[in-house]
Amino acid sequence: MRIRSLAIAAMAAGAVVASATMATLAQGPAMKMEGEPTRAVAVLIPTKDSKAAGTITFSKADKGTRIQAEVTGLAPGKHGFHIHEFGDASSPDGKAAGGHFNPRGKAHGDPSKAGPRHLGDLGNLVADESGKATYDLIDPDLPLTGPTAIIGHGVVVHEKADDFGQPVGNAGGRVAVGVIGVAKGM
Ligand code: CU
Ligand code: ZN
Repeated sequence: MRIRSLAIAAMAAGAVVASATMATLAQGPAMKMEGEPTRAVAVLIPTKDSKAAGTITFSKADKGTRIQAEVTGLAPGKHGFHIHEFGDASSPDGKAAGGHFNPRGKAHGDPSKAGPRHLGDLGNLVADESGKATYDLIDPDLPLTGPTAIIGHGVVVHEKADDFGQPVGNAGGRVAVGVIGVAKGM
């Protein structure tokens, strides 16, 4: 009797250890990665003959996605700023990033106004005399997850201002490109 109950006790202890291990795995970082991302990042690299560079973060906020950017090496003034269709920074002119990210099939527009816009239309970066621009805005329509998620797509900073004219804002060439990826946890 004594031996048998010890064996049962050992088995029970083994089961406790096994379930504790599973609980640890379920809460560990490996499992967290499979959850929905709450933060994304794009590192901007200069196109040929450009010095523009910087970092953009996209983080989940209460009412949308907060976009924070710091870009240097720009000519003073406004520069069109968009999410583009492809997360492809492989071409020297930035054109591999394709056109504006437009999963809802809308016209180009100004995100600060009501009315149609490409989902990727972020307006303009405004560079100061030193060539530095910062941007900090909460966009209610820009999802990090779901069918119109921005992760995996590209970001482009243009040579000229986006004047919100059709079809794509007349912002000219591309001075920096980046790819939006899932950011390392905070
Ligand atoms: Cu663009
Ligand atoms: Zn657009």
